[in-house]
Amino acid sequence: VSNASQSSWLTVRVAAKYVEATDICCYELVSPDGLPLPPFTAGAHIDVRVRRHMVRQYSLCNAPHERHRYVIAVLSDPDSRGGSLAMRERVEQGDLLEISAPKNHFPLHPHVTHSVLIAGGIGVTPLLCMAYELNDNGASFVLHYCARSRDRMAFVQTIAQSAFAARVRFHLDDGDVVQQLDINRVLATVPAGAHLYVCGPVGFISMILDTADKAGWPAAQIHREYFAAAPIDTRNDKEFVVQLARSGRTITVAANESIVQVLARHGVDIPVSCEQGVCGTCLTAVVAGEPEHRDVYLTDAEHASNKMMMPCCSRSRSERLVLDL
Ligand code: FES
Repeated sequence: VSNASQSSWLTVRVAAKYVEATDICCYELVSPDGLPLPPFTAGAHIDVRVRRHMVRQYSLCNAPHERHRYVIAVLSDPDSRGGSLAMRERVEQGDLLEISAPKNHFPLHPHVTHSVLIAGGIGVTPLLCMAYELNDNGASFVLHYCARSRDRMAFVQTIAQSAFAARVRFHLDDGDVVQQLDINRVLATVPAGAHLYVCGPVGFISMILDTADKAGWPAAQIHREYFAAAPIDTRNDKEFVVQLARSGRTITVAANESIVQVLARHGVDIPVSCEQGVCGTCLTAVVAGEPEHRDVYLTDAEHASNKMMMPCCSRSRSERLVLDL
């Protein structure tokens, strides 16, 4: 179980902050004392304490062999819950920031025949890091990078100057039909045993996963990372009871509260970070009852097993949910 509150925070300095593309700002983070930063692998993210009580996750997008810096890219999203705005407005070059050591929920699978990386918009960040690692390892891969328009496409220069520039295909929503991503064709023309990695908006990921599923790709060869949860309709939310298996205590969760909020009020702290079912920090084992899963962190098979849940956002289908707490 990954747990933000158990990890100690590191202090880093913002060595550079710059606009990378329309609405996308990059931050280069270094150790204030010039020492190497903790190592990371492609697909890793860091928790950033944007301000008190506000922690956000950002994928590292620089090459994993670099130990002198972490690079993150932040999209100013009008629908976000304030994290990107706070980063943009409050965090400046020279500032000190608290971050977690890198964690990786989206690792590359070693020794595969070929890797297909598919990025939607700011979802390019972990995939760019993967491209560096795959290239360093001499592995076979292609990166398909989709964006709404050229001005919203981050890292075009970085990619052009990279050793893997020839392996990247750009697809612009507002460009010619011929350059647009033909996902069926991409998935049909890869070697057997290839692995697929997708990151981007929820709808984009769903479209790619559905297509891969229909094309018969085994689930074990498909990997995805969401950076925000889809909006959830909460109008029909109902009250239910949570029972803590270790003490037997029962606590009622009202329709307008999350399990995490209610338990915290009763002195039971579950560590949280994203509070929207994306990061995995609050992962909790389920002993009995049927959760109503609302996260995008667990896989479909894990949801179906009902053995664990993300209580920051998920609720209960059964009247009682017994948690391993
Ligand atoms: S706190 Fe991030 S998934 Fe629950």
